[in-house]
Amino acid sequence: MTTGPGAPPEAIVRAEGLTKTHHGDRAPVHAVRGVDLTVRRGEFVAVTGPSGAGKSTLLHLVGGLERPDAGRLWIDGERVDGHGEARWAVLRRRSVGIVFQFFNLVSHLTVADNVELPALLAGATPRAARASRAELLAELGLHGRENALPGALSGGEQQRVALARALVNQPALLLADEPAGSLDSKGTRDVLRLLARFHARGQTILMVTHDARMASAADRVISFFDGRVADDAVLGDPAPARPGVSGVLDLKD
Ligand SMILES: Nc1ncnc2c1ncn2[C@@H]1O[C@H](COP(=O)(O)OP(=O)(O)OP(=O)(O)O)[C@@H](O)[C@H]1O
Ligand SMILES: [Mg+2]
Repeated sequence: MTTGPGAPPEAIVRAEGLTKTHHGDRAPVHAVRGVDLTVRRGEFVAVTGPSGAGKSTLLHLVGGLERPDAGRLWIDGERVDGHGEARWAVLRRRSVGIVFQFFNLVSHLTVADNVELPALLAGATPRAARASRAELLAELGLHGRENALPGALSGGEQQRVALARALVNQPALLLADEPAGSLDSKGTRDVLRLLARFHARGQTILMVTHDARMASAADRVISFFDGRVADDAVLGDPAPARPGVSGVLDLKD
């Protein structure tokens, strides 16, 4: 992948001045107000903040589910803010997995088919898609639910199926909006374990969460408030693995 101007080579996400205003029936809502953000390849970043702060909107912009009104965005060095839906679809199939806050499983497909579909669309053989699906569902405690339809699952089960689906193509970047929001503590542990394994393989996670335990599993916690980055903190001892960490801290405003 080529590296565009303004995008450091190690940045998997780079946003400059990202802005989004929602125009509903009420007054315009300035959900994301000029956000600068760099996420390095391999980082595990949690985004926290109050309800309505703009966290989901930010994630939607980074995943191409909503288009910014202003600002620039690079994914893996590729300038993407001008991409249309077709190019975004290719990017999401190849390298960006998304788990939504409100899971969006295909209701008439079984659990197994929901998880295998993105793999098949990306060109995996049916055998490989089945194997990845079986492994992910087992890790998420969903073994035996393969033939169920989403409507027959609990909210927490649906959420784990959505996570399995987002991970089946081993995306370089996972965008996860409250991936354990409906889960009990065992479900949350399963999700955390899977995310940790994903992260240990060098994949990058940008995760919105209200859960302090989820956030503490991350390397870095961004506090989002009123459409802006209010704080950006690297957890633990960042020194050995992250020589360029000062670049992170300049995001504070
Ligand atoms: N499609 C939309 N149309 C109009 N307003 C919207 C739309 N989506 C979000 N908003 C508004 O934008 C603001 C930010 O919403 P967003 O969903 O990004 O917040 P959030 O931080 O994810 O909140 P939560 O923690 O409750 O999920 C809110 O005021 C919300 O009502
Ligand atoms: Mg949200």
